[in-house]
Amino acid sequence: MDYKKLAKAAIEAKARAYVPYSHFHVGAALLTETDDIVVGCNVESASYTPTICAERTALSRAVYEGHRKFKALAVAGSLDGRDANYCYPCGVCRQHLREFFTGDEKIIIAKTEDDYKVHTFAELMPYSFGPEDLNIASEK
Ligand code: THU
Repeated sequence: MDYKKLAKAAIEAKARAYVPYSHFHVGAALLTETDDIVVGCNVESASYTPTICAERTALSRAVYEGHRKFKALAVAGSLDGRDANYCYPCGVCRQHLREFFTGDEKIIIAKTEDDYKVHTFAELMPYSFGPEDLNIASEK
């Protein structure tokens, strides 16, 4: 499958990042089960720790919009004025995604819309802790 469109959405979302402290712009784009794309960017805080990553911004928007099943996530990140490197989701975002991602979903790490790596969520989050571990009936 071609993830050019999803990678492009993540790269475009990066332009909305609010990053006065790190100057590191991140964009994320979720591909939902219904083939909708929901994007997000990182939003930083003067108090630093409340900063929210692009992936969690996108996930919160998607859940609010009624999506709970996803096919893929694309992430793009770059420092002000620099070319993008491959930017992988941080540990906090991996755990947060784990709430809705089960393993086979694709994680697209994009430098450009034509240069990206494709992983599965399971590759990024092996031996994880998730909702099933609490033995609570899933709301999904
Ligand atoms: N950041 C993300 O948005 N996603 C990640 O997965 C890695 C880190 C943001 C948080 C912060 O605003 C900036 O990148 C530098 O850490």
